[in-house]
Amino acid sequence: MFLTDEGKWLHRWTGYVILTLILLRIIWGFIGTPHARFRDFFPTPKKLVNYLTQLFRGKEQRYIGHNPAGATMMIALIFSITGCCITGWMQGLDMFWGDEWLQETHELLANSILILAGLHILGAIIESFRHHENLIWSMVTGYKRAPSGTDVDHENPSS
Ligand code: HEM
Repeated sequence: MFLTDEGKWLHRWTGYVILTLILLRIIWGFIGTPHARFRDFFPTPKKLVNYLTQLFRGKEQRYIGHNPAGATMMIALIFSITGCCITGWMQGLDMFWGDEWLQETHELLANSILILAGLHILGAIIESFRHHENLIWSMVTGYKRAPSGTDVDHENPSS
């Protein structure tokens, strides 16, 4: 497959396109719509542990923005994808030519992305069932059902 056809032009340019998309998403995290901004959902270990504890008890709240698990996943994906692209690019520099640690780091990050992507899909499916809404479609449209009851909406705390 072209993606694993090590270091070939299509592999490299796919990586650069992915890196550009990630950079655009990072910029959007500062200037974008309210729920897309990092300050709306930036995760902390405490928020993540609380959310996961509630999830395993079947009592987690529904978030209109990103919930702490989804937010942590997003940060992990941003770091691993950016790191994978940078280590891929570094392999072409004279300075690092043939460095095994770089190849191994690149491969490790590529495998981490696969694992994170699998977990991300699983999380989206579980949450869609738990809250009776199509979260995958919400990722495309940017819309979710209006908040009600104990739902969390940082942008409209009164709702
Ligand atoms: C998200 C983006 C990327 C992914 C998922 C990815 C994934 C991979 C994988 C799975 C391998 C094979 C590792 C192995 O079995 O040895 C590889 C090798 C390689 N990649 Fe990437 N890559 C990405 C981006 C890039 C970029 C942007 C570049 C360069 C500009 C690049 C350059 C290379 C090179 C030179 C190798 C060969 C390393 C070796 O000899 O082992 N990659 N990449």
